[in-house]
Formats: sequence, C-alpha cells, structure tokens
Amino acid sequence: MSTTAAANAPPVLTIDGPGGAGKGTISRLIAERLGWHLLDSGALYRLTALAAAKHEVALDDEAALVDVAVALDVAFLAEEGATRVLLEGSDATHTIRTEQIGDAASRVAALPAVRRALLQRQRDFRQAPGLVADGRDMGTVVFTDAPLKIFLTASAEERAHRRHLQLQKSGVDASLSSLLKEIQARDARDMQRSVAPLKPADDAITLDTTRLTIPEVVDRLTELLTERGLATGT
Ligand code: DC
Repeated sequence: MSTTAAANAPPVLTIDGPGGAGKGTISRLIAERLGWHLLDSGALYRLTALAAAKHEVALDDEAALVDVAVALDVAFLAEEGATRVLLEGSDATHTIRTEQIGDAASRVAALPAVRRALLQRQRDFRQAPGLVADGRDMGTVVFTDAPLKIFLTASAEERAHRRHLQLQKSGVDASLSSLLKEIQARDARDMQRSVAPLKPADDAITLDTTRLTIPEVVDRLTELLTERGLATGT
C-alpha cells in the first residue's frame, strides 16, 4: 500500500499524541488561522464505535466492524468555532464525546482491518489549500510525507486535570483519580497495540504542552510552519 502522495499534493500538518494533550483545540485553531481543512481522525473511530452500537455489532466482531467502517455515513459540518458531526443524518456531535464511546473507539481502533477500512477516507481529506490532521498515526501511517509532523504531549496528570475541568464546566461530576486511571489505560492500549501504535514519527517534533497555554502552542506551531515555508506567520 503506497503512502507516497503526488509531488503536488496539498501540504499536511500532522498533529499526533495522546488524548487530552490539546490536539483537538490546537488543530482547529491552526486550521482556522491557515484556512486549511481539518481531519479529526479520532472522530472517525468514535463514529465507527457509535454506528456499531446503533446496529448492535459486537466490539469483538472484526469482520462486521469493517462493514460498519466501510459503510460509515458521516458528515462534518464546519460551524463557527466548532464542527457539527452527523451520523446517518442525525447529530452525533456530543454523543461521540462520552467516555463510553471513547472507550469503545479505543477498542475498535486496535483492530487492523478497521484501520485499513478507514485509511482512504482519511487521505481524502487532503485537499487544497492544505490539511491539519489530528490523531495518533497521522505522521507514522496516514500522511507519511507530511512536510511538518508534530507530536503533542502532556503528562497524564495534567491531561486528567484538563478533562476534569472540562467535565466540571459541562456540569458533570467526575473523580480526578478515576479520570487519571482511564487516561492511563487508554494510553497503554493506544501505545501497545500491534498496528499503528501511538508513537512519534521519526521526523516528528515533540512538543510537551504540560506547562504551555493554548496561545503559546499555536504561536510555536505557527513559527514552525513559517520556518518550513508553509505559512506566512501573520
Ligand atoms: O482522539 P480521540 O480520543 O477522539 O480518539 C478516540 C480513539 O481512537 C482513541 O482511543 C485513539 C483512537 N485513534 C486512533 O487509534 N488513531 C487515530 N488516528 C485517532 C484516534
């Protein structure tokens, strides 16, 4: 399977890393700043998990999950500061963000055939003028020729803390210690799976966001894009 894009393929900025490192927010802000397209690849795994639940497909039935992934009927609608996600025409924006679907997505994402089934769908997001691709294997598998690859990370404690604040803001009362355990379990599953494990690409730049604010991360990435001639830096 070739991962080499044509020489004139639109540029891609890949942003990989563990959950809660800020990839989603940072990717959106950079895409907005550059006027580039955005791929939230985690949403595709979450939508596959949600569609499986909807069609009563078991999470260990790999062949049936592949059928679900191939037939996935989704739409990403860019709206002011957010993306509305539709599954089979129904709004799934919030449903796919629950811990339950996140956990199911992590299991679905560990299946090689499901990953293969979603590969071309992800590559199709590469459209002019450019793409910001957010995920776990954007730089290592999906867009190996990307001109700038970032591995965004933060300590598990900091990520649990951020998730806790986020849940508190939306009125959900979760325990910090159980969030930390869930994050550690998901990290372990994402890093230890045999296919496309979570790890930085050899040519990725690692950025630890534990002590950085969102604007600091966006500024740093804009500098890197400018250095590589991918953005004007304005
Ligand atoms: O980034 P997220 O939490 O929305 O991702 C949901 C799950 O999907 C997570 O367990 C990791 C997995 N995933 C993956 O394996 N590969 C990707 N490119 C993106 C997400």
